[in-house]
Amino acid sequence: MNITVVGCGYVGLVSGTCFAESGNEVICADIDRERIEQLSGGSVPIYEPGLEELVRRNLKEHRLSFTTDLQAAVAQSMITFIAVGTPMSASGAADLTSVFRVAEDVARAITGYHVIAIKSTVPVGTNDRVRELTARLSPHRFDVCSCPEFLKEGSAIEDFMRPDRVIIGSDSEHATAILQELHAPLVRTDNPILVMDPRSAELTKYACNAMLALRISFINEVANLCEAVGAEITHVRRGLSSDRRIGSHFIFPGIGYGGSCFPKDVQALIHTAEEQHLDFALLKAAEEVNKRQKSLLVSRVKSHFGSDLSGLNFAVWGLAFKPRTDDMREAPSLVVIEELLAAGAKVQLHDPEALENARRIFGQRVSYCPLNYDALQGADALLILTEWNEFRHPNFQRIKNLLKHPVIFDGRNLYDPALMRALNFKYYSIGRRPV
Ligand SMILES: NC(=O)c1ccc[n+]([C@@H]2O[C@H](COP(=O)([O-])OP(=O)(O)OC[C@H]3O[C@@H](n4cnc5c(N)ncnc54)[C@H](O)[C@@H]3O)[C@@H](O)[C@H]2O)c1
Repeated sequence: MNITVVGCGYVGLVSGTCFAESGNEVICADIDRERIEQLSGGSVPIYEPGLEELVRRNLKEHRLSFTTDLQAAVAQSMITFIAVGTPMSASGAADLTSVFRVAEDVARAITGYHVIAIKSTVPVGTNDRVRELTARLSPHRFDVCSCPEFLKEGSAIEDFMRPDRVIIGSDSEHATAILQELHAPLVRTDNPILVMDPRSAELTKYACNAMLALRISFINEVANLCEAVGAEITHVRRGLSSDRRIGSHFIFPGIGYGGSCFPKDVQALIHTAEEQHLDFALLKAAEEVNKRQKSLLVSRVKSHFGSDLSGLNFAVWGLAFKPRTDDMREAPSLVVIEELLAAGAKVQLHDPEALENARRIFGQRVSYCPLNYDALQGADALLILTEWNEFRHPNFQRIKNLLKHPVIFDGRNLYDPALMRALNFKYYSIGRRPV
C-alpha cells in the first residue's frame, strides 16, 4: 500500500518505518526541515533502540522516504496517518492545532478516495471534526478513522510490530477492510484487531493511559504508607502482583510518572469529563499524588542535609522519564533538578541518552557528564532518577571513593537495602526503611 505518515516523532517515525518494514511504500512528512534532512540521510534524531537500523534498511530499499512536501506525499498515497503532537494546553485540554492544520492540508491534497487515519491521541469527537472539515474542503470520497497508538518508548518497534491489539475506530466498512489488511502482518499471533466506532476508539486510548497512571499513583501511595507503618513495599508489591486479577505491570513504586503521554492524557481526560459536567475525582487524585511524589526525593535530601543546600553538590544518574529513551518531557528529573537548584545546590548530570535534551533545558545552570562515574566526582551524594540497566550493578566501592559522603537517594529502588547496609552506605529508597 502507499501510505503517508505525517509527523516524524516517536510515534510517526516508528509507525512509518514499521509499515515500510512490512513491505508498504511509505512517505513520512514533517514540517521540521532539519529533521527531514537528517532522516533522508539515514540518521535518526531521537533515541529509540533498533530504529536507526530499520530506517536505513528501508531507505536503502526505497520503501521509505522523507519529505516536507505534505501535499505531494498525500497525492501519491491512499492512506494518510496523522501522528503529530497533541500537547497539553493551558486549560489541560489536548491542543489540536497541529492535527487540524494537517487535516486541512490533507483534505486539500487528496486526489481520489482516501483514508485519513488519526494516530495522534485525540479527545472524543476529534474524528467527527476532521470528517466535517475534510468534507468542506475536498470534493473527493474519503473516510476518517481512529487508529490510536499504544507503543511504549524504549520498546516501540517491538510494540508496534507485535501489538497486544490493534484498534480501528471506523464507521466505514471499506476503510475498515483497508486498515485491517494493512495491520494483518502485525497480528499474525492472533492478537485481535478490535473494530469499534471512532468515539469508543478515541476514548479507549485515554482510558488505557489513565488506568496505567492510576496504578502508578496507587502503588506510590502504598509505598508511602509502607514507610509510615514499617512495612516493605517490595514484599507488598510481590504479594499484589501475584494476584492474577491485578498482575505485575505498572505497580513499581518510584518518583512519579512522566513522559509525553500520561501527564497530558490524564489532564485531557479530566478536561473531557468536565466538559460533560462530570468530576473524574479518581484521576484528579492520581495527578495530585503524582505531583507530590515528584518532590519526595528532594524532601529526603533536605531532611538529610538541611533545607539550605547551598555549597552542596549532587550527582544525578538518569534524566529520561524512563530507560531506553532520550525523552525528558514531564520527567520527574525536571522537578528534582529545579528543586535542588532552587535550594542552592549544584548538580552534575549523567544519562546514557538524554544529555543533549537536558542541555537544551538547563543550559549552563548544571554540569553534564557523559560518563556516570564522572558525575560523582566531588559530589556530596548521588540521586538515581531513572532505572537504566547500567545503573543496576555499579562498582559501589568506586562510588564510595568518589562521593564526599556515602549517601544514595534512590528514586527507583535499584539496590538491595541489606547490601547497602553491609557496604556502609546511607541509602534512601521508596517504600522501604532507610538504611
Ligand atoms: N510518544 C509516545 O510514546 C506515544 C505513544 C502513543 C501515542 N502517542 C501520541 O502520538 C502523538 C505524537 O506523539 P509523539 O511523541 O510522536 O510526538 P513528537 O512531538 O515526538 O512528534 C511530533 C512530530 O510532528 C511534527 N509536526 C508538528 N506539526 C506538524 C505539521 N503541521 N505538519 C507536519 N508535521 C508536524 C513535529 O515536527 C514532530 O516531528 C501524540 O498525540 C501522542 O500523544 C505518543
